[in-house]
Amino acid sequence: MLALLQRVRYEEHMSGGKREKLQSVKGMHDILPADMPRWRQFENAFRRIAAVYGYEEIRTPLLEPTDLFVHSIGETTDIVEKEMYTFVDQGEKSLTLRPEGTASCVRAYIEHNISNQEPVSKWFYLGPMYRRERPAKGRYRQFYQAGVEVFGDAGPVIDAEVIALCVQLLSELGVSNVEVLVNSLGSRDGRQSYRDALRAYLEPFRAQLCGDCQRRIDANPLRVLDCKVPNDAKIAQGAPTVLELLGADDRSHFDRVCALLDQLKIRYRVEPRLVRGLDYYTRTLFEVRDLSGELGAQSALLGGGRYDHMVQDLDGPAQPAIGFAMGIERILSAMPASAEPKRSGVFVVCVQPDLAKDALELAQALRKQNIAAGVDLRGSALKKQLARADKNRAQYVVILGPDEIAKGVVQLKNLETQNQEEVPRQKLIEKLQSVK
Ligand code: HAM
Repeated sequence: MLALLQRVRYEEHMSGGKREKLQSVKGMHDILPADMPRWRQFENAFRRIAAVYGYEEIRTPLLEPTDLFVHSIGETTDIVEKEMYTFVDQGEKSLTLRPEGTASCVRAYIEHNISNQEPVSKWFYLGPMYRRERPAKGRYRQFYQAGVEVFGDAGPVIDAEVIALCVQLLSELGVSNVEVLVNSLGSRDGRQSYRDALRAYLEPFRAQLCGDCQRRIDANPLRVLDCKVPNDAKIAQGAPTVLELLGADDRSHFDRVCALLDQLKIRYRVEPRLVRGLDYYTRTLFEVRDLSGELGAQSALLGGGRYDHMVQDLDGPAQPAIGFAMGIERILSAMPASAEPKRSGVFVVCVQPDLAKDALELAQALRKQNIAAGVDLRGSALKKQLARADKNRAQYVVILGPDEIAKGVVQLKNLETQNQEEVPRQKLIEKLQSVK
């Protein structure tokens, strides 16, 4: 803590003794109340579809031991090499803010011995992830993912079902200008021979490739296929594809996934150059891209695939697995603009400031009956109270004046139809409940 305070003081000193303007960390954003209806719309749809397909929710900690990600995502991936928020805590342990959810699910699956309790587990999760990438539209340092993971089923039928879930969710959210890409990386042995074939192809081009890719030839040649440098991408175009080298079992697994997608009438394109940036994948791999151009280079709305060795590699039982995760911010920007939220609930207004306490009393009586009731307690002018009721998208205003109080009635105005009627105070709750 002392070292931290010293660091803060040092930074203050370097900026001329002035405290820097306090604002959110670069690439990390507030989600304001005004944004929430769209987030809710997404989350409700995701939860509903996940339940319909038989998934149960899991929540894992934001912090995990750094080793978990190094051993699953892979030492030579961009995420592990340069994007993780890692620190040593007071107990001298290296911890990392999770950059994705799959490794955490696998850790939890092993830690709680789930494979002994059920043959197949279907989990879903929603939550923030952290990657120190260069911020851009659709690319943040804190972003939210919604994902699913299935343990204990080697496919290929479940592979098609997982893709079907993505397609149904996107369609229900109105995200239609998309393309589903599928590929197979083959089993782990097959992947190794593909790596060798890629190395052999890339070696003669070594001097023409960017510095990163020159290193990648030795460390992880698959990542050269993902390089965005134009000349490297051109060279990668001529590389042998993983599909050409698939063994018979892997080929048949992949053909069956494609046949099932055809049977389910899901449109997709086989993209033999799809490799994705995480090392744990084997066999089926897929991505859904936005075709609208809105998201620029960040067009991947979701990505996933099979990771049949990760559970065992992290010292768990041999259990196959498959899953995907979608970037919620990216999905939201691909969703069509939503209609203005529907009016609901009540706003209690009073015609003069000294009646604010009566307005609160009435609002409380409504709230106790589960009727959402807003009220302006600042003693504002009637016009201001009515404007606030409208901004809150209330369906009714209940107007209280001295005459109404004396007569034991209220004025009830429907803000949708503009109809106004006098209602006895005792009948108000019954009336509002009948129209709720
Ligand atoms: P991923 O491709 O790294 O896969 O991320 C999945 C999705 O998260 C991406 O398609 C994108 O929509 C979103 N995403 C990634 N990075 C950012 C960022 N910096 N800003 C905004 N959105 C981002 C995974 O994370 C795997 N765990 C998916 C998986 C689950 N595979 C199997 N199971």
